Amino acid sequence: MRRLFRKPPDQSLSPPQHIAIIMDGNGRWAKRRGLPRTAGHAAGAEAFRRIANYCRTLGVRYLTVYAFSTENWKRSQGEIGGIMTLLRRYLEEALRDMEKNQVHFVFFGDLSRLSPELQALCRDAETRSRVYSQVQVNFCLNYGGRDELVQAARRFAQDVSLGRKTPEELDETLFAQYLYSAGVPDPELIIRPSGEQRISNFLLWQSAYAEYVFMDVLWPDFGPRELDEAIAQFHRRNRRFGGVK
Ligand code: IPE
Ligand code: IPE
Ligand code: MG
Repeated sequence: MRRLFRKPPDQSLSPPQHIAIIMDGNGRWAKRRGLPRTAGHAAGAEAFRRIANYCRTLGVRYLTVYAFSTENWKRSQGEIGGIMTLLRRYLEEALRDMEKNQVHFVFFGDLSRLSPELQALCRDAETRSRVYSQVQVNFCLNYGGRDELVQAARRFAQDVSLGRKTPEELDETLFAQYLYSAGVPDPELIIRPSGEQRISNFLLWQSAYAEYVFMDVLWPDFGPRELDEAIAQFHRRNRRFGGVK
């Protein structure tokens, strides 16, 4: 029999404590409408606002979003400029509405390649939002999973050369402290909208046992209903972590 009504999500299932999202599909969304790619990024920023609010309602503790990768510099100057302008506007707004949103912002990525103005906004957002402990949004900007691992290895090697650490001490727990995500539990669920089924250099270390949910919707069209669906899929998975259930 054809199901006429969508089954509502099971409210008794608690959401994962950490959800990560590859916010992909902005360009295609714009192209389908005959709009410039930047219009897609603006719509993507709206989708992010919606989802961050919804995550807070659901009680998700950590939300990590992929906003700009170390590879995205390959795009045209026009598109990059458009994305940076949107970022600046978003951060200014986030700083203004900090008390209303109650979100702790943390940035993952090599911020040194961003404009001094953007870097200052990121630092301000991070320090001024530290007091909010309900939801933490990890914003991945000029982020690459490989870059994160290389930077971590370099910083550990520096600690060894300064005599602060020995190679023998290094284990998974210690190494994780050198990553951007130090202190943040690994994501249980990683969502990629847009129909692509790849990682694109996202959270290579942290995703070791994450459940991936790939969805056909483009990011600007992603809303609470899609997040409910991804969480429902997550709850249907059988997570074994290498053991037997
Ligand atoms: C994701 O959307 C945003 C960034 C990578 C900055 P895209 O711009 O990659 O959108 P598509 O994949 O071209 O549709
Ligand atoms: C991944 O999307 C990066 C972000 C969403 C920020 P891309 O659109 O850059 O990834 P590819 O090129 O399709 O792998
Ligand atoms: Mg893309």
